[in-house]
Order: sequence, then C-alpha cells, then structure tokens
Amino acid sequence: MKYMTGNELREAYLQFFAEKKGHLRLPSASLIPANDPTLLMIGAGMAPFKPFFTGKMKPPRTRITTSQRCVRTGDIENVGRTARHQTYFEMLGNFSFGDYFKKEAIPWAWEFLTDVLDLPKEKLWVTVYPKDDEAAAIWREQPGFPQDHIVKLDDNFWEIGPGPCGPDSEIYIDLGEERGCGSPDCAVGCDCDRYLEIWNLVFTQFDRTEDGQYNPLEHKNIDTGCGLERLASVLQNKKTNFETDLLFPIIEYASKVSGVVYGENAEKDVSLKVIADHARSMAIMIMDGILPSNEGRGYVLRRILRRAVRHGRILGIHDKFLEGAIDAVAEIYKGAADFEELAEKKEYIKKVISIEEDRFAATLAQGMELLNGHIEDLKREGKKVLPGEIGFKLYDTYGFPWEVTDEILHENEMELDKDSFEKAMEEQRERARAARQENQRVAVPDLSGIDTSHLCVDENAKESTVVAIWKDGVLVDELADGEEAGIILQSTPFYAEGGGQVGDAGLLETEFGRVQVANAKKLPDGTVYHIGYVEEGMLKVGDHVSIRIDWMKKLSSARNHTATHLLQAALKRVVGDQVNQAGSLVMPERLRFDFSNFEPVTALQLQEVERLVNEQILMAKPVEIAQMEIDKAKKLGAMALFGEKYGDVVRVVSVPDFSIELCGGSHVKNIGEIGMFKIVSETGIASGVRRIEALTGRAAIDYMNEKAETLAAAAHAFKCRDDEIVSHIESTLAENKKLKQEIASFTKERAMGDVDTLLAQKKQIKDLSFASGIVEADNIDDLRKIADMLLDRLESGVVVLAAAHEGKVSLVAKASDAAVAKGAHAGNIVKAAAKIVGGGGGGRKEMAQAGGKEPAKMPEALQEAERVLAEQLA
Ligand code: ALA
Repeated sequence: MKYMTGNELREAYLQFFAEKKGHLRLPSASLIPANDPTLLMIGAGMAPFKPFFTGKMKPPRTRITTSQRCVRTGDIENVGRTARHQTYFEMLGNFSFGDYFKKEAIPWAWEFLTDVLDLPKEKLWVTVYPKDDEAAAIWREQPGFPQDHIVKLDDNFWEIGPGPCGPDSEIYIDLGEERGCGSPDCAVGCDCDRYLEIWNLVFTQFDRTEDGQYNPLEHKNIDTGCGLERLASVLQNKKTNFETDLLFPIIEYASKVSGVVYGENAEKDVSLKVIADHARSMAIMIMDGILPSNEGRGYVLRRILRRAVRHGRILGIHDKFLEGAIDAVAEIYKGAADFEELAEKKEYIKKVISIEEDRFAATLAQGMELLNGHIEDLKREGKKVLPGEIGFKLYDTYGFPWEVTDEILHENEMELDKDSFEKAMEEQRERARAARQENQRVAVPDLSGIDTSHLCVDENAKESTVVAIWKDGVLVDELADGEEAGIILQSTPFYAEGGGQVGDAGLLETEFGRVQVANAKKLPDGTVYHIGYVEEGMLKVGDHVSIRIDWMKKLSSARNHTATHLLQAALKRVVGDQVNQAGSLVMPERLRFDFSNFEPVTALQLQEVERLVNEQILMAKPVEIAQMEIDKAKKLGAMALFGEKYGDVVRVVSVPDFSIELCGGSHVKNIGEIGMFKIVSETGIASGVRRIEALTGRAAIDYMNEKAETLAAAAHAFKCRDDEIVSHIESTLAENKKLKQEIASFTKERAMGDVDTLLAQKKQIKDLSFASGIVEADNIDDLRKIADMLLDRLESGVVVLAAAHEGKVSLVAKASDAAVAKGAHAGNIVKAAAKIVGGGGGGRKEMAQAGGKEPAKMPEALQEAERVLAEQLA
C-alpha cells in the first residue's frame, strides 16, 4: 500500500483516468447547481452531468473524470460522532456517457486500487445488485480477486432525487477485526467501522422522473464515486477521515485555540471534528458564491457556521476563532489543482465569516442562558418537549437555527415541538410580508446631515456607492439579510415613481450582499431613493454596488407609457378636442388613462381609437425626446401632463406627426416596440371623467389569446366552428324562448284541469261554497293564480289550496266579498292551517298565504281550514 497525501491521491486518480483511460479531466463544478431546481447544492460527482446522462446535452467528451466538491447535510448531527460523516467532501469520479460500461469500469477500478494504490487484494470486498450476475462475473475475472469476496445486496441501487440512476456495485476494504464490532454477524454492510466502503460504481441505466417512474435511458452509462477523504484515511492508515491531512490541520488549530488536546475526551473530540468539518464546508460554500441568509443554501451555510461557533463555546473558546480555521483550510489545499480560488478569495471568505460570527456571538450567550433555563424547567417538571414559541424566540431574537436548538435539546434527551415552531415561523412570515408592504409608506427620516447635493440620476449608471440607508424611519449604517430599507445611491439609473409611472425595480449587488429593489421614489428635492430588501448577506453605507435594472419590467412600463401618449392623441382625433388628461397610471402590467368627457365613448369610437393607435405602432416610428424651453414646447403644441410642475427647460416626448407631450417618463425608442395595443375597458369614474384601461406588448397578446381560447372552448361546447358560434347562440336562445312558452301553456292547462276537479268536489258550508285541495304548482305565484281562477269559477265563496315543491309547502286562501261579509277570514284560516304543516303566515280577510315544511300533513291542514271556516260562519 502506498502512502499518499490527500492532494496526491486526487492527482493520482485524475491522472489515471485522464492519461491512461482517455478521460477528459474537468475542474469541479460549483456547489451551486447550474439550472437544476431539484437540487439545493451539488451532493454527488454526477450531479453536474445529469443532462449528459439523459442525452439532453452533448458532453464535450463521452469520458470525463473529476474530483467534485460536494455538500450533504442530511446527517449533520452525526458529524464528529462517526469516523466518516462529513458535510463537505470531495468525490472522485469517472463517467461514461454511452461510452464504456461494466466491462471497462470494473477492471479499471480494480487496476487503480490494486496497481496504482497497491491496496492488498485479499482485503477488498465487493457488493453487487442481486440480479447483476454480469457484474459479479466480471469481478471474478480480475487478477488476484478473492473469489468469495462478493456479496449480493438488495439495496445496491443508487439514486439521488429525480434523474439518472441505476444498480450499483460497491467496493469495500476490510480494516481488520480489531476495528469491528465483534458481532458474529459482522460482515460487509455492517454499520461498524471494520468494512469501509471506498468506491461506488453505478451502472446508470434509468432516468427517474419527478413522480417516481424509471424510464430506461437510451445509452448505458457509468457513474462512479470514490470518497477522497475515506480513501486517504486508508492510505494514511488513520482511524477516521478527520485524522487525515485533509482535515487534521483544522483540528490542530482548534485544539491550539481551545487548549483541548485531541484524543483525551470523546465528547470534546466531537466538537473538534465538527469545527474541522464545518470550517471546510463554510470556506468552500462561500468560495462558490453562497452568502449566509435565512433561506435555501444561505441558510445551510448559516446553520453550519453557527453550529461551529457553538461547538467552539463547548470547547471553551469565547473569542472569535473561525477566521483562523479558514487559514488552516487554505493551507490544506495550497497548491492543489482546482483550489486556486480558495487562496484568491481567502480574505473575502474570512470577512464574510467574521461578519456572521460577530452577529451570532452577540446573542449566543444570552440565547444559551435562556435555553438552559428552559431545559432546567422542563427537567423539574418532568417534561421532554420545548414549546415551539421558545424555539422561535431563540431563532428570531438570538439567531439559533432551529436545528441547533433541537440538537442541544437532544443532548438533554429532549426535543423541540416542531409544529408550534413552524406555526410561529409562519406567523412571523405573515408579519414580515405585511410590514414590507407598510414599509413602502414608512416616513423618510431627517436627511439634513446627509450631503445629497452631488447625487445624480444617470440612466446608464451600472455601478454606484451607497450614500445613506434608513430603516423604520431611522438612519442606520448597515442592513442584514431579511431587512428592508430606504437606500440612497450616489448615482442611480432607476426611474423614480412619478408622472403616473411606477418606479423601476432591480437588483443591487455588492461583494457581501444582494438587495432586491422593489421600487424607486423621489423626495421633494428630487433625491431618488430605493426601497430595497436584503435577500442575502448585508449592505453598508459606503458599499460599492453594481446595479441591475429589471429590464423586462422597465420595458413593459415604457411600452405602456408611450402607448398612453398615443391613446391621448387618438382620443383627441376621434372623440374631440375636449378630451384632456385627468390622471394616469403606468405600470408594467397595464395602463390606465382618465380624461374629461361628458359622454361614454361609443364602441365604434373605441374601435377607431384602437385602430389608429395600432396603425401608428405598425408604422414603427421613432420616439423623439428633446430638452427645450417651455415656451418653445408650447408653441410646438406639447400637451402638459396633469398635476406636474415644469421648470423653464422641459423634456418633450414626441411621436412624429401624431403626439407631442411634456413628460419625464420612460418610453420605448421606437413605437414598434409596443407591439400591440388593446383597450380592455371604458368606464365613468366621476361626472365628466371617463377611464380607459388598456394593455400593450405581451400582456395584450396574452389577453387576445385568452379570448381566443374562450371562443374555442365555446365552439367546442356547441360542437361548431368558431365562426358559427353567434348563430348557434341565437338559435339556442330562440329555442329557449319557445320552450319557456310551451312550459307556460302546459302549466296553465294543468291548472285548468285542477280547477275543474276541485270545482267538482266543492262543498257547501252553511250557505257558502267551499273548494279546497292539493294542486301542482312550482311556486306561490302559480298557486295564487290557480286560487284566482278557482274563486272566479266559484263566483262566491272560499278557496283554500296547498302545494308542495322541493319539500316545502305553500298555502293560499281566498274569500269573496260576499263570504267576507258573512264572517269568513282568509288570514285566520291560513294561519291555523299553516301551523299544522309546521309553518306560519297569514294576511288579509280576502286573501292570505303561508309556508310550511311538512308536505305529508297537507290533507290535515286543509281539514283544519275547513273546520276554522265553519267556526267563522257559525
Ligand atoms: N453517484 C454515486 C454516488 O454518489 C457514485 O455514490
């Protein structure tokens, strides 16, 4: 067996595959996945090559070899507790994209291990997928392969989320009985330290979809992964990865700062190892462009860093110490291929870490005190779950990632109530969202101490310096991630809200932070300020920022602004000179134009306005912008914008032979860029003021497409062509009308039949005619009509009818004048009858109606009506 340093081993592997086996040697990809939303960070050597496996992209060569930087945090709490768990590691790999397969991959792995590294063959073992006899046979052919060292394992199938995957074959080394667990069952695959997996050969044959289907790939591929640190521990004869030269110098550093000697106390060793592992992770993450934040990758970095600080405290380190650990990391990779950037960016990485360490250190002690107090309380009460609200307070006020709190609790055999923590988090997000909206209106502080005289608006500015920052109405020197604030820049290309147009949005980037600008506004003295949200890292006064305007949004606003000018000019031509602007709103999504006019603009006029504007757009005229004296502008016929004050020199925006206006807003260079103009509504908003809303560009196209889709859906429903819809609707409406008439005459006929039947059954009470019964009627109106007809035919007397519809009862009673004169009272009759069917109602002597809920009792109710009438006449 050859001794090699970690850096030598990496080199040996890459050279073997590049020089002897025809692979293209590529540098490691960044930890930040390029165009792969399924991954937070690169966690396997193959991850950057997914499109090569699936055939979506052509690789630069069909054989590639790399040593890929990887981060995996799934098992973070095991780091330091086992010999192998790390958050950061390097994966050596050789890949075939439809080139070689098992017949080459297996012998080459064997050759590298036994020939180049000279590992003892008798100590090597392999596992294969149970059905993979082919791989087993190839292994057995290898020179000196111990024939009985093959184990079939069901879980020999490798995948990481959606993407390329397949059966695999793992290579293990037996580190000797003395490293084993002693169990009689101890064998390859046992969790103990005796058999160490050093290499995994994946026979990549499938592409797993998001919903878990395994689609066979067109070509067979090879993906292998060999942990650099593990293999180094073998060659360097070390018990754990942490003792190899790829990690131990960091342990030595932490040991020196803390005065804790490695190897004397198992728990303290855990902390030393955590620091060593985490220091490398954070250095490489920052090198690759990740900054601490409360979301995504930035959160992983923050969590790792804060966890390291806490383990420093466990070791008794009370001062800042991580920067020194980064020096140790840089030393480890000095001169190593692919790590030049680490040396170049060392000071930057230390600065990022220093800022974050300061932020956490400021509250760590207080947070720990609070947490320890709660742990004591829980112990006293015999409880084991810390309420989520306390976990949230630790997170929100003291910067404890919840995982850190949970871990400290675990050390005390307790846990965090994750549900109530999540709830508190969600409430906080809600508050933040609300505050962000409110903040937009937050008062600007007194800026008299700030020199704003040299600020300038420069459309072409790409870089600038931060002059002032304020938060919650107070000037501050710096902002941390998650904060929102007002920001003034030395020079700015942002258009500030005004003249009816919303402000620009965009991005400010510094070495240490990224700020989303949601809007730009103007102070009364013309100073432009930006409303920004720190997404990542931080922002300080004096910072140099690079600026990126959201051009898509700006262009959309410009389209709508220029189109507003065209709209005004067209309205004057079509509707008349009385049209004058009374207000306007230009947003990226749409435009709104208010104008004086006493009558609604007719549909025909609107069509004409739209046609005129689109005709201008099709002519693709240039937009001309000029500064001139106000008198000259007026002489040229420029229209002034509503509510704007103008200086002596004004900005004149004109579209040749069509529109000329004084305006400070954003415009397209050529009106052809507007693409399309579509009016979507015309309404009145006050007496004499009308409002037109319209769309341009993409929004107009989307709108028209939606209309077309609706039309197609309607045609589909009618089973006709688009151009036949109108006639189909007309004939359907006509048919509907006919059916309604038929139903009406049918109902009438049915009622007449009922009337005849009831007449035939009429009774005499005293000397009055009384007709009653249950009839069919869908509503109380129909029932009343039948009662009318019946009383008409009866000439004089009393009528009581009941009907049931959809489980409800209607009752109607009518008495003729003569009947009333004899004492009949329709209202009282209905009242008594309604009681029987579980309802109420009543009315006048001549006519009354009521409802009820028990149709089964209608006959009983009618008997009651008869009884009451008899009583009334007695
Ligand atoms: N992609 C395989 C692994 O990560 C080699 O184990």
